[in-house]
Amino acid sequence: MKRKTLTQYLVEQQRQADGLGAEVRLLIEVVARACKSIGHAVGKGALGGVLGSLDSENVQGEVQKKLDVLSNEILLEANEWGGHLAAMASEEMETIHAIPNRYPKGEYLLLFDPLDGSSNIDVNVSIGTIFSVLKAPTHVAGAPVTEADFLQEGSRQVAAGYAVYGPQTMLVLTVGKGVVGFTLDREMGSWVLTHENIRIPEDTREFAINMSNMRHWAPPVRRYIDECLAGATGTRGKDFNMRWIASMVADVHRILTRGGIFMYPWDAREPGKPGKLRLMYEANPMSFIVEQAGGAAVDGVNRILDIKPGQLHQRVGVVLGSRNEVERVAQYHREAG
Ligand code: AHG
Ligand code: MN
Ligand code: MN
Ligand code: MN
Repeated sequence: MKRKTLTQYLVEQQRQADGLGAEVRLLIEVVARACKSIGHAVGKGALGGVLGSLDSENVQGEVQKKLDVLSNEILLEANEWGGHLAAMASEEMETIHAIPNRYPKGEYLLLFDPLDGSSNIDVNVSIGTIFSVLKAPTHVAGAPVTEADFLQEGSRQVAAGYAVYGPQTMLVLTVGKGVVGFTLDREMGSWVLTHENIRIPEDTREFAINMSNMRHWAPPVRRYIDECLAGATGTRGKDFNMRWIASMVADVHRILTRGGIFMYPWDAREPGKPGKLRLMYEANPMSFIVEQAGGAAVDGVNRILDIKPGQLHQRVGVVLGSRNEVERVAQYHREAG
């Protein structure tokens, strides 16, 4: 039976009763095309001169990789003329990018991490792109879009998705009606629906955390991981496996595929920061996807999608994946007070 394409899936969603707006459908198709271009550049590697770092730093204080900047430019150029957006925001841009006056403005906001897992670019490990779609608040005619317009809880996302540039190039997407996965048919250049209803198992034996930070963790995190490490002879009564790819997109994709718990919690290395990952364009889109697949996502205790953002680039602790394991970690945080 012929598989559906991204366009067919989106048109079907649009025809549903409380369906997807045509603007959002077109916007997602533009983003998906941009991800194809990013994946093409990623695939060239050294042959495309896209590896290595620049002398510049981003607002996060990170040295920018060539692909961080190239991916950001690809997404900006693909999306600014289409007329679907009021503005964009990115990990790689300090301030929001308002749509230039020479183009029509739309009623949506697009946020993205253009290249996630940058530390893996030069070692040929899977990386990705993460994106989130919000509705722009209605403005008094002509009033400019501001950063404050972006500061909406993750529960208000209209759509979210990621592309993962790995052995296959895949696009995983939610428009609030479950989670679907598309595999790029590189010969035809089309996104083909290959995963019609992605669900995360409620239980798991696999955890993902950067163990080198163990001495900096808060007690509830240490308690949870120690119990996993104690295995079948410990209180959990089962052995656990560990994976840490250090590309959130790849770790989350594994969890969507076979279950697991992903943790990037607060740690004492920078006590003033709630975590490493960014709320608006990493934690929120991934939490929307994970919840739509039957999983859970908390900052340690609170549901991530309920967090009211204060700044565009604010960070947050992240514990997401198999619902029963995430709930256990949240319970340990509540017990620790
Ligand atoms: P980015 O490359 O967009 O800055 O994100 C990297 C993030 C995330 O993808 C990953 O889970 C985490 O950083 C890995 O952090 P460590 O290198 O500290 O393990
Ligand atoms: Mn990232
Ligand atoms: Mn990034
Ligand atoms: Mn980065």
